[in-house]
Amino acid sequence: MTTDAKYFDDLVQARRSVRIYDQEQEFDHNAVQRSLERATLSPNSSNMQMWEFYRISSDALKKEVAENCMKQKAATTARELVLFVVRPSLWKDRTAFNLDKMKSSFPEEMEDKDKNRALSYYQKLIPILYNNDKLGVRSVFKKLYSWYVGTKRPMVRQVTKTDVRVTLHKSVSLAAMTFMYSMKAEGYDTCPMEGFDSKRLKKLLDLPKDAEISMIIGCGPAGEGGVYNDRVRVPNQEVIFER
Ligand SMILES: Cc1cc2nc3c(=O)[nH]c(=O)nc-3n(C[C@H](O)[C@H](O)[C@H](O)COP(=O)(O)O)c2cc1C
Repeated sequence: MTTDAKYFDDLVQARRSVRIYDQEQEFDHNAVQRSLERATLSPNSSNMQMWEFYRISSDALKKEVAENCMKQKAATTARELVLFVVRPSLWKDRTAFNLDKMKSSFPEEMEDKDKNRALSYYQKLIPILYNNDKLGVRSVFKKLYSWYVGTKRPMVRQVTKTDVRVTLHKSVSLAAMTFMYSMKAEGYDTCPMEGFDSKRLKKLLDLPKDAEISMIIGCGPAGEGGVYNDRVRVPNQEVIFER
């Protein structure tokens, strides 16, 4: 095992969901900022980065947010709470961002036809996938198209509005994981939560209409009894397969 693998293994073994945080120990809030900046480097679908991270550190707001996390101790005692949010409506901005970056990175000698082929991913494919109507009518056509093409050759099947939402939540979850390992490496603990009232929280925090809160992560120095139980997992052979 390399030194890096050993270090990473220690981190993975040590991370637990901590539900009680110490209120006295010093907590470096800059560790949250550093960890979020690392989280933005996580892999994400088509590099669309349709995520946002909201830090809640003031005592007054933390209290209100924790109320809406069903008063879970992981939230009421957290020294800071971070919302991991997805924004389906950001697709146009992010497409433009990626197109700009791509255009400015083409080598001078690259032929126009090769440039156009590369650009068509963000100019054609991404808009087809991400441009969805409220009722999901376009999804029906996309699904039918995908099914039809799929009868003739391998074809991406996850093409509906719901599939895009899943994609966004997948990507932000990877960012959440990077964040949690980074916090552990900074010497702090975390607890991911999905037990919250998303509707009330969106209103309280004045989040954009399309925002979906994927996860809320409580963090800080672990308090006594913060780990509720021994870690249990189903046996590896029940989940790791070779085909
Ligand atoms: C998507 C997601 C949602 C979770 N929601 C909650 C939650 O609302 N409250 C909580 O106490 N733990 C929550 N957890 C933590 C899990 O219960 C925990 O990760 C699991 O029991 C394994 O324990 P470990 O993290 O200590 O290894 C959540 C974890 C994930 C990944």
